[in-house]
Amino acid sequence: MKLRYFSHSAFQIITGSNKKILIDPFLDGNPTSPVKSDDVDADYIILTHAHGDHIGDAFKIAKRCNSTFICVNELANYCSSNGFNAHNMHIGGGHNFDFGRVKFTIAHHGSLTPDNHYGGEASGVVFSIDGKNLYHTGDTGLFYDMKLIGEMTPIDYMMLPIGDNFTMGINDAVKAVELTNPGVAIPMHYNTFPVIAADPKEFKQKVEKLGKKCIVMDFGQQIEL
Ligand code: NI
Ligand code: MN
Repeated sequence: MKLRYFSHSAFQIITGSNKKILIDPFLDGNPTSPVKSDDVDADYIILTHAHGDHIGDAFKIAKRCNSTFICVNELANYCSSNGFNAHNMHIGGGHNFDFGRVKFTIAHHGSLTPDNHYGGEASGVVFSIDGKNLYHTGDTGLFYDMKLIGEMTPIDYMMLPIGDNFTMGINDAVKAVELTNPGVAIPMHYNTFPVIAADPKEFKQKVEKLGKKCIVMDFGQQIEL
């Protein structure tokens, strides 16, 4: 399995069986993404919530690739009403897809689409793919139930925001790593805009002080999991 990071909260998982799963594909309007939407394919698109910096270019990509959206019910309905395939889920629920399992978690955040439709609750996502568990927290503040998420599904890789202002900042994100106890922490949602400037090296140092691993992925970098 491969994990590609485009910057902000946008990742692509390429499974061992070559299924492509795109998460929060904010690319064309994203000043830090080295990759544009025309160069990214997706069998599935997962949206953690409806904000513009997460829906991003999802519709454009889905149109070209005939992708299926996977999101919480209200946001999935919004995708369906725009003519796209969608699999409706909700927080606490898991489902086995042809690439692996997806389970939605809580996230403390808002969710309104750029054209002012209510997107349901903001969410995080736990993936179980090719024998590994990945947790993309979505945009969220720190919450103690991250401990429960890590206990129910031991997490190998945790992608979490460190940019502050709209989400956890570095110190809260370090606490989130302590609570969730993943094998590796990967920071996201920082340095896209001046208001979410943060130093990922400071985050890495603080995570390592806990005795935990951290990988700071370069924008555009792909790693093998
Ligand atoms: Ni947001
Ligand atoms: Mn955001």
